[in-house]
Amino acid sequence: MASDARRVGVVGCGLMGSGIVEVVARAGVAVTVVEADGDAARRGRERLERSLRRAVAAGKLAEQELAPVLGRVEVASSLAALSTCELVVEAVAEDEGLKCSVFAELDRVLASSEAVLASNTSSIPIARLAAATARPERVVGMHFFNPVPVMGLVELVPCLSTSEGTIERADAFARDVLSKRVVRSVDRAGFVVNALLVPYLLAAVRMVESGLASVEDVDAAMRAGCAHPMGPLELADFIGLDTVKSIADVLYAELRDSACVAPALLSRMVESGRLGRKSGRGFYEHGG
Ligand code: 3HC
Repeated sequence: MASDARRVGVVGCGLMGSGIVEVVARAGVAVTVVEADGDAARRGRERLERSLRRAVAAGKLAEQELAPVLGRVEVASSLAALSTCELVVEAVAEDEGLKCSVFAELDRVLASSEAVLASNTSSIPIARLAAATARPERVVGMHFFNPVPVMGLVELVPCLSTSEGTIERADAFARDVLSKRVVRSVDRAGFVVNALLVPYLLAAVRMVESGLASVEDVDAAMRAGCAHPMGPLELADFIGLDTVKSIADVLYAELRDSACVAPALLSRMVESGRLGRKSGRGFYEHGG
């Protein structure tokens, strides 16, 4: 059962992968994270340590828990290290070809025919990832939110071939082991959150583009007027403007809704390398 998994696998140690590793290890479960790129593995480990120290400083994690949590995390460079896992969560870059090749390889290396293969994709149809394997009934979407240790939600996304048993095991793991609130969505572009969130972010970009209000005022309006923790442009910078644009493109391709068309300003910013926090500049300057 994934809900009492002894070792969970995570593929990719970027922002989302390292966050997923953190919540699994903090839930008391051993985790092997596969990151082929040595630099990315080192940065992922540093991000994990920084986040854990922040959790200690905030009183969310006992100081004496730090070493045991880190001790539960093993970093590997090859998917073969996941062969005995009963649950693997893929969190590599949002590239369909790359994700399909990871799923095909996981299908080959996972020894147990019962193992669940989950993807943290925010935009690629789960059905396409399932079709890359010989066990489509074991493939499911498990979409986490950034920052993973803070955000309480997991979207659980079965595709047409996902078995009821796989859905229940992934649901039990997210709910009972990781203590996340689980919402279910059918396998459609944007699932629940991004189908609501991304048109809102695009509308904020259009407001700035049309001169209706400044970046600072749009954000202040939603923070002070609606108690959002971040305004939409601040949040777009936080998510990554390239990610926002690519989700918008996926939504538009499936829904043909003009609310999902990426505004020219967003496209130009992405083409200019202004990607938000990750590149140091987006709607705001991000120091450090
Ligand atoms: N572990 C546990 N708790 C942590 C933590 C960690 N590693 N790091 C921070 N926290 C806790 C803090 O203790 C604090 O808790 P409190 O409210 O009980 O005091 C809380 O998290 C907030 O942390 P900070 O005070 O350090 O930071 P801020 O107040 O500046 O909040 C933020 C930062 C949590 C990012 C907040 O601005 C926020 O919620 N922003 C919106 C984020 C959001 O919408 N994310 C979803 C993006 S969409 C997505 O991911 C989907 C994708 O497909 C695009």
